[in-house]
Amino acid sequence: MQQTYFMIKPEIVAAGDQKVGEILAMVNRAGFRITGLAMRTLPQDLVEDFYGEHKGKPFYGDLVAYITSGPVVTVRLERENAVAALRELIGATNPRDAATGTIRDLYGASLQNNAVHASANPEDSARELGLIFG
Ligand code: CMP
Repeated sequence: MQQTYFMIKPEIVAAGDQKVGEILAMVNRAGFRITGLAMRTLPQDLVEDFYGEHKGKPFYGDLVAYITSGPVVTVRLERENAVAALRELIGATNPRDAATGTIRDLYGASLQNNAVHASANPEDSARELGLIFG
């Protein structure tokens, strides 16, 4: 069993409960077990840390402002091969490149407002779960 971090981003939460429920149902159907779940507005220093690898990139400031703009849904997930399986389920970072039927294909609006986040690898998963769930 492996754990991974999943996050439903602010524009989806702001759009109402239906999309959040649909996305969680997709994750559930793909065989993941939810072992942690919260809706919260993340503080700026935590988000700066979380996305630290992007510091200095042109989109970093906008990214931090966007993620702190309202509540997100933070989720700890468990499954065999969870990290890779969740990345496959969410699709490419840019929704325009995301495979048909993936979460970002169905719910992503733009490169920034791409609906969800999932840890890229097991090291990131451990780091991100530590930051968010302690
Ligand atoms: P995420 O997978 O959470 O990782 C970094 C986030 O930065 C990404 O999803 C997008 O929401 C946002 N982002 C905005 N512009 C870019 C870009 N040019 N490349 C990658 N990520 C971007």
